[in-house]
Amino acid sequence: AYVVTENCIRCTYMDCVSVCPVDCFYAGENMLVIHPDECIDCGVCEPECPAAAIFPDSDPRAGDWAALNAQYAAQWPNITQKGAPPEDADAWKDAADKRALLSA
Ligand code: SF4
Ligand code: F3S
Repeated sequence: AYVVTENCIRCTYMDCVSVCPVDCFYAGENMLVIHPDECIDCGVCEPECPAAAIFPDSDPRAGDWAALNAQYAAQWPNITQKGAPPEDADAWKDAADKRALLSA
């Protein structure tokens, strides 16, 4: 499966949601995750993310986010339509050490 990683936090552009053919994104307060059992590994979402937050779980940059995607996808609501990202999304893009900012 593909996984959403740290750089989504406080950016949530949701372009990924627009392109996913199986609607397998789940939304927390300031980050989205992918349900690993629903993702069909099409790879369409990866290049669409302006924050480059999405990787295949086999990519070293996915780190331990695969487990976190699985955990939160079971807790957060499904999201199937792109909404408005935060006004300061661009300011948070590529900010360092956003992990502690995750609202879970
Ligand atoms: Fe959806 Fe495809 Fe991305 Fe998986 S890889 S989350 S199926 S767009
Ligand atoms: Fe997050 Fe990128 Fe989607 S910032 S909401 S993974 S487009």
